Amino acid sequence: MAYNLLNGKKGIIFGALNDRSIAWKTAERAYEEGAEFVLTNTPMALRMGDTHLLAEKCKTIVIAADATNVEDLENLFKVTLEHFGGKIDFILHSIGMSPNVRKKIPYDGLNYEYYLKTMDISAISFHKVIQTAKKLDALNEWGSIVALSYIAAQRTLFEYNDMADAKAALESIARSFGYIYGREKKIRINTISQSPTLTTAGSGVKGIDGLMDFTERMSPLGNATAEECADYCITLFSDLTKKVTMQNLFNDGGFSSMGMSYRAMHMYNKSLECKDCHTNPLNPDEDLPNDKL
Ligand SMILES: NC(=O)c1ccc[n+]([C@@H]2O[C@H](COP(=O)([O-])OP(=O)(O)OC[C@H]3O[C@@H](n4cnc5c(N)ncnc54)[C@H](O)[C@@H]3O)[C@@H](O)[C@H]2O)c1
Repeated sequence: MAYNLLNGKKGIIFGALNDRSIAWKTAERAYEEGAEFVLTNTPMALRMGDTHLLAEKCKTIVIAADATNVEDLENLFKVTLEHFGGKIDFILHSIGMSPNVRKKIPYDGLNYEYYLKTMDISAISFHKVIQTAKKLDALNEWGSIVALSYIAAQRTLFEYNDMADAKAALESIARSFGYIYGREKKIRINTISQSPTLTTAGSGVKGIDGLMDFTERMSPLGNATAEECADYCITLFSDLTKKVTMQNLFNDGGFSSMGMSYRAMHMYNKSLECKDCHTNPLNPDEDLPNDKL
């Protein structure tokens, strides 16, 4: 159901790869709510993914940009401002990637070149996007910038690896830049901390199925879907949240406030009866020593 919440608003959406992407769902909802926006992704993602199909659906254009490359970002903003004949009102940063996670390198054996890439792509790119927008004065007053985060920024979760560090930095950038951009231009900056979601990036996290089952059992409202995350983004782009800034906002069905739920306890009790408790959950043929459990 549409409410015309974004009538007349213009924006840039980073990170729509395919129809499972959170950015894809957000673009569809923003279009329904009356927004106009430019879609962007890396040249490689534009070759491999379906972003152009989304552009057709939303009657818009696609501009290639690697969000770690400031020249690409400057070009993106300049072309976008020309395209709209004026400034924009919202930006969605929906970008994440860790070469260490991709290559299954554990946190206590990180490849530091990859670690820097993780930080650049998944966190520092957010700073680069905001700094470029500010330098080019690309946003109207009361504009809104949103990035997507995950609870591993605050709590340690099995196998989230160096992405946890990147998310902690991402949330900090929202606060640090939120102060400056808010004070000077009345721009708000927030992160949404989303439930685990089966997307291309989400599927890269080891044991995502077990994790999603656990968070579903732990959350009184259940996991938030990509569509529900898109709905939340729309509210943050709309004029209904003008004084919400520098926040990390959980869209997780209540997971972040839980310690233990009945449904999770039930499963845990069942597992205590299990005779194979030393089995590696990711590889049933392997027995784990006590210090790895
Ligand atoms: N899926 C989950 O479980 C989950 C949970 C919480 C937060 N998030 C976050 O949501 C965001 C979107 O991820 P998603 O789950 O929709 O997966 P996705 O794989 O669909 O989206 C990730 C996007 O990042 C883009 N990207 C990677 N490197 C880039 C670069 N250098 N420049 C520009 N774009 C680049 C990819 O091309 C892709 O479109 C990410 O920040 C992710 O960490 C995801």
